[in-house]
Amino acid sequence: MQEIAWQISLVLMALVGFGFTFVALKSGRRCEDYTPLQKKAYRLRLKLFWLLALVFGPSMIYTLIKLPYDATFAKSNADARPPQVISATGYQWYWKLSGTEIEAGRLVEFRVTSADVNHGFGIYNTDMKIVAQVQAMPGYTNTLQHTFDKAGTYKIMCLEYCGTVHHAMVAELNVVAPEGRNKI
Ligand code: CUA
Repeated sequence: MQEIAWQISLVLMALVGFGFTFVALKSGRRCEDYTPLQKKAYRLRLKLFWLLALVFGPSMIYTLIKLPYDATFAKSNADARPPQVISATGYQWYWKLSGTEIEAGRLVEFRVTSADVNHGFGIYNTDMKIVAQVQAMPGYTNTLQHTFDKAGTYKIMCLEYCGTVHHAMVAELNVVAPEGRNKI
């Protein structure tokens, strides 16, 4: 689903880009029939266009590069080995994990469920920024795929209020650098 949304966004962004280029090329040709006053206004408009293009163009490219690539590219970056699988179950008020040691640079598949009420399974990096999350629901197993690119101690915290000790639903994941490679 995420992949489809991502691809549709890319196509739409490309269309907008083509539209801009088309208008920019087209608008260059008509300046000769403009009266001097209109010419001045036209030149101002052209300057404004390039100013906006130069300001927003690079920031758009920067944003595109910085967008999370997990959905589309994680699989091609990860090696051919099967994903590391971790089963996670939420309880009032703790997490039960089938493992806590993860290798960086290799796909992890979390299979997340709950034994009682709805919880939120949120993974935070060492800067306490959220890197991935999925709902933990009784009766369902939701899968969450993520490739950790940096080693370190990550935290799992509950993202949905689930009772008086909700705030204490914290677990830790130990992400280690891949064996035989340099530490990341
Ligand atoms: Cu579990 Cu909040």
